[in-house]
Amino acid sequence: MKLSAPLEKAFNDQITLEFAASMVYRQLAIEMEIRDLPGMAAWLRHQADEEIVHANKFIDHLADRDNHPAIGAIPAPKLEINSVLDCFQAAYQHEQKVSAAIRDLVGKAEKAADYDSRPLLNWFLSEQIEEESTVSEIVGRIELVDDDGPGLLRLDDELAQRRVATTEAAGG
Ligand code: FEO
Repeated sequence: MKLSAPLEKAFNDQITLEFAASMVYRQLAIEMEIRDLPGMAAWLRHQADEEIVHANKFIDHLADRDNHPAIGAIPAPKLEINSVLDCFQAAYQHEQKVSAAIRDLVGKAEKAADYDSRPLLNWFLSEQIEEESTVSEIVGRIELVDDDGPGLLRLDDELAQRRVATTEAAGG
């Protein structure tokens, strides 16, 4: 069953937001790269790829239901990063924004009695809990090391261990 026109628009807005999230993470990866923290940069690039997977999930859902997925204007990331803590706090704030948008989408789908989108939206509700928790833990650990060089380097090594997957692999 097709999504209603207003719901199609709301889903398309979410597609745009996921791509925008990818650009935010990509810029944050650059910020860490230029500070010689390759592990953190790799971790953030991986997140950027994951956001594209998220956008693709919404695109596939709309296409499968004979709606018209359409990517909107993606704003340039607005970030002021002066430290590693700034970087991950920005990531955390962006995840909170995405979570709020997903909750809003859930509310709209429920109001429209669009039961077909429920499994997808439930997946995203769980995913956002995980995303927020992961980034919040990193922020907490950065606060613990308090801009201490060796501490940041150790954290950089740890984040480098994260499975590096391509967008394709993560989407498979
Ligand atoms: Fe697609 Fe990190 O939320």
